[in-house]
Amino acid sequence: MPQARTEAVAGAVPNDLESFWIPFTPNRAFKKAPRLIARAKGMHYYTVEGRAVLDGTAGLWCCNAGHGRDEIVAAISRQAAELDYAPAFQFSHPKAFELASRLAALAPGELDHAFFCNSGSEAVDTALKIALAYHNVRGQASRVRLIGRERGYHGVGFGGISVGGIAPNRKYFGALLAGVDHLPHTYNREKQAFTKGEPEWGGHLADELDRLVALHDASTIAAVIVEPMAGSTGVLPPPKGYLERLRAICNKHGILLIFDEVITAFGRLGHAFAAERYGVEPDMITFAKGVTSGTVPMAGVMVKKGVYDAFMNGPENTIELFHGYTYSAHPLACAAALAALDVYREERLFERAKKLEPVWAEAAMALKGLPHVLDIRTIGLVAGIDLASRPDAVGGRAYEAMQKGFEQGIMMRITADTIALSPPLIVRESEISEIFDKLGRVIRGLG
Ligand SMILES: Cc1ncc(COP(=O)(O)O)c(C=O)c1O
Repeated sequence: MPQARTEAVAGAVPNDLESFWIPFTPNRAFKKAPRLIARAKGMHYYTVEGRAVLDGTAGLWCCNAGHGRDEIVAAISRQAAELDYAPAFQFSHPKAFELASRLAALAPGELDHAFFCNSGSEAVDTALKIALAYHNVRGQASRVRLIGRERGYHGVGFGGISVGGIAPNRKYFGALLAGVDHLPHTYNREKQAFTKGEPEWGGHLADELDRLVALHDASTIAAVIVEPMAGSTGVLPPPKGYLERLRAICNKHGILLIFDEVITAFGRLGHAFAAERYGVEPDMITFAKGVTSGTVPMAGVMVKKGVYDAFMNGPENTIELFHGYTYSAHPLACAAALAALDVYREERLFERAKKLEPVWAEAAMALKGLPHVLDIRTIGLVAGIDLASRPDAVGGRAYEAMQKGFEQGIMMRITADTIALSPPLIVRESEISEIFDKLGRVIRGLG
């Protein structure tokens, strides 16, 4: 793997920062002190000034194979020359089928059909629409309610923010979807603080679904959607037994269970899908990010055979599902995904994440006792570190940590005052030490 190099990138600094409206970013603060990345290789980003920054976040939870992987770059480039685009409706191309079969083989149990889209948000809306349509085509059109969870993040589409449970993502955007309810979130600091892996306390919170069923009646509920590990809200691993109980309650009431694995799929928790880690088979799994190791936008929904089959009725020349995107199964994305899956398999990166989990957890927990640190949670190759909020400015302390970390050569992600870390799965033990040593120094220096 290449060593960190310092080398300015000529012409990389833009002369106008005004026109680009940067997503999920305080634009005015950013434009005063921009954090601009020019290139990346292996475990490192390089700023426009040529400074190396160790990637503690796999980009945005996506570059699981590390950066600038020659095999993936070559596959994308070959594909662009061979077939840039084929219509996604009524026509297709061979790699779409090849990828769907590969994913079906990788996914647990009967999750053997793939519907492709371009982002996690689209994958979530797709899964919710399939759930509603599934009940409809089976003659149960009264099943229209969707159940999400407090603190859940399911992207930014109207479906996703409706079932999601993060207030600022919802409160500006009107009445959202009707008929949505939420399970309680699973975090309790008093009972769970400084847990490695799945907390002992909290499995019983799945039984809240029974309460919602009693309130609304099962005949009105289409689906439940949860992240097996809630990532964006600040890393909340599922309590022991929680997902199993959700599955059992959904089975009892004919409710579809959707796992949103946009973050957890492709090795993050040591398995191809988190569903495998927990031995729980949902009816649909959304995926994105790691499927192409973040190189080309791609996402999708793995769908259980029985759900797919329910649509395959009626005359054969009629469209079974009125849904899809111009860029569903885009050839470049399919080529990138096939190459990324090869890298994952050849380098056994999912197993690598599993093997490194105890080392990672130990290194993260070493920050316990530092100033401001209220809790640390780890699971797979993920860590969440809660800092005490400043009384007058929630999020200010973690923002300062992110900025200082970037200056000191480490990329981290923040949500309010939680720092989230999730490195590429190629991370070495020495780099794990470097990540937490640097973070420790940053935390000690915070006001
Ligand atoms: C669980 C989950 N679902 C959906 C999304 C949305 O994905 P995207 O940003 O690709 O739309 C994310 C993004 O982080 C996510 O973590």
